[in-house]
Amino acid sequence: MVAGIAIVHVGLALAVYRDLAPPSLPKSESIAGLSGVSAEVCRPCHATIYAEWARSGHARAFVDPLYQRDLAHHDTTFACERCHTPLVEQRESRVFGLAMAWPVIVPLALANTSFDPVLQREGVTCVACHLIEGELRGPFDDASAAPHPTGFADLRTPELCARCHQLDFTIIGRKLDRPVLDTVAEWRAFAASGGQESCVDCHMPSAVARAAALEGPTRPGTRHDLPGPFDPAFVGARVIATAQSLALTDGRGARAIVEIENRSGHRVPTAEPQRALVVTLAALDREGLTLSSAEVRIARPIDVPRLRPLGPDTTLGVGERREVALALPGPVPAATAALAVTVDFVMWDPSDPVLAELDDRQPSRHRLLDHRVPTEPP
Ligand code: HEC
Ligand code: HEC
Ligand code: HEC
Ligand code: HEC
Ligand code: HEC
Repeated sequence: MVAGIAIVHVGLALAVYRDLAPPSLPKSESIAGLSGVSAEVCRPCHATIYAEWARSGHARAFVDPLYQRDLAHHDTTFACERCHTPLVEQRESRVFGLAMAWPVIVPLALANTSFDPVLQREGVTCVACHLIEGELRGPFDDASAAPHPTGFADLRTPELCARCHQLDFTIIGRKLDRPVLDTVAEWRAFAASGGQESCVDCHMPSAVARAAALEGPTRPGTRHDLPGPFDPAFVGARVIATAQSLALTDGRGARAIVEIENRSGHRVPTAEPQRALVVTLAALDREGLTLSSAEVRIARPIDVPRLRPLGPDTTLGVGERREVALALPGPVPAATAALAVTVDFVMWDPSDPVLAELDDRQPSRHRLLDHRVPTEPP
């Protein structure tokens, strides 16, 4: 009996380990002609691409203060490394198994002799995408001017992105109807419904023709700064919010209808469960202060450490146009001077303890719609 429980535990520990720590990228082979695999080695020759990448979420994947704070709130931090610091050399220790008395998981780890703290800070660095079998592969099959081995690889397929943007647990997280990170599966639904663009088309769009490397020929280029959720213009162009109606009712209540259309290549919001679209109807006084309001949240709240839903998944499906109707809870207050309807893309719940511990964080919302009408006194 006791042996039986022990065997079940060993089996479970192995399965959970495989879920949390799937095979990582192999140890980076040294690249002939170069002094290392750090982005700093690429920088002098690929200066433009380096500068773009350095502004991207990929370059921030480890140093991002929010990530660092969030790590402190998790026990199984080794599970984060496979995507935020994907190279073996980026890890202080190497986990080789788990000791588990469910739900407590203790990783068994050894110091990593190849650990490189400089490389760790680079997060999703150049070689995580480009180093394949000792060659720096990319779109060209004639990059003979390079001092390093090169070769063609199709990096425009979602398989490259899927390594980190799709998280398919097989044993844990069964209480969720679909994975926490499900962006690539969502994109497949977009492609199946006739969507033309790939991840790279939208998030790494073409740059003006330029030299890919110092003294290289002018060629079609790819932007590496990764436009995405933190770029209000990028979001506003593909998540379209319009006010259909906003008015007092005959009984002097207030109603609004907002349409939100998802023209992205996946659900919106996708991935990070903290993201939400918040639609608000408010009665405002002369100074613009809120007297009364109603709110609808479009989100997929998840308790990440426990992998459990915290509420229904109301995210917008691919191509979906949704009418959101709101009404104020009672009659409009007497001092009402205007009605307003707004749509915000909220990046992280401002009251979340992780965010509260940071004193310096990028703006946590973009306003996608702000429509106001003055009201007549009764
Ligand atoms: C399967 C890959 C994967 C794993 C494992 C993973 N992440 Fe992430 N993480 C991502 C991706 C991809 C994003 C970007 C998605 C997005 O912005 O919605 C992200 C975004 C984040 C963000 C939000 C950053 C921001 O600017 O808002 C935080 C914080 C974060 N991860 C923390 C963690 C922690 C802590 C762990 C471990 C418990 C972890 N992640 C495990 C892939 C992963
Ligand atoms: C001493 C200069 C130099 C350094 C250092 C250098 N490269 Fe290159 N690289 C080049 C040149 C030149 C080309 C060819 C450009 C062309 O043909 O348009 C090139 C081509 C490439 C290509 C395209 C390959 C293809 O076949 O499509 C990739 C990807 C690449 N480099 C990545 C990197 C990365 C990553 C690093 C750092 C680890 C790096 N390079 C370091 C000069 C350099
Ligand atoms: C090795 C893992 C890895 C790969 C491969 C990867 N990503 Fe990411 N990506 C991440 C992580 C981790 C983050 C979250 C960074 C952070 O903490 O803010 C992220 C963030 C993003 C973001 C959000 C941008 C931002 O400013 O936060 C976009 C968009 C994105 N990735 C697109 C892509 C696309 C497109 C591909 C395929 C060409 C790709 N990623 C490949 C790990 C990866
Ligand atoms: C048609 C354009 C389009 C395509 C195709 C597309 N995206 Fe996006 N993506 C967007 C828009 C718009 C947003 C901002 C809205 C949002 O964050 O949900 C976004 C946001 C993201 C984010 C950040 C989520 C967040 O809020 O932090 C990630 C990560 C991402 N996309 C990855 C991918 C990956 C991976 C693919 C391919 C499987 C892909 N995208 C395909 C338009 C696109
Ligand atoms: C998330 C994956 C990813 C990361 C990280 C990344 N690249 Fe790229 N890179 C791509 C993709 C995708 C393309 C376009 C491939 C295509 O068009 O077929 C590309 C294209 C290139 C090219 C060809 C020229 C061009 O503009 O298309 C070079 C050179 C290059 N990358 C170098 C780098 C360097 C140097 C870094 C780090 C500073 C880097 N890349 C980081 C995915 C990545």
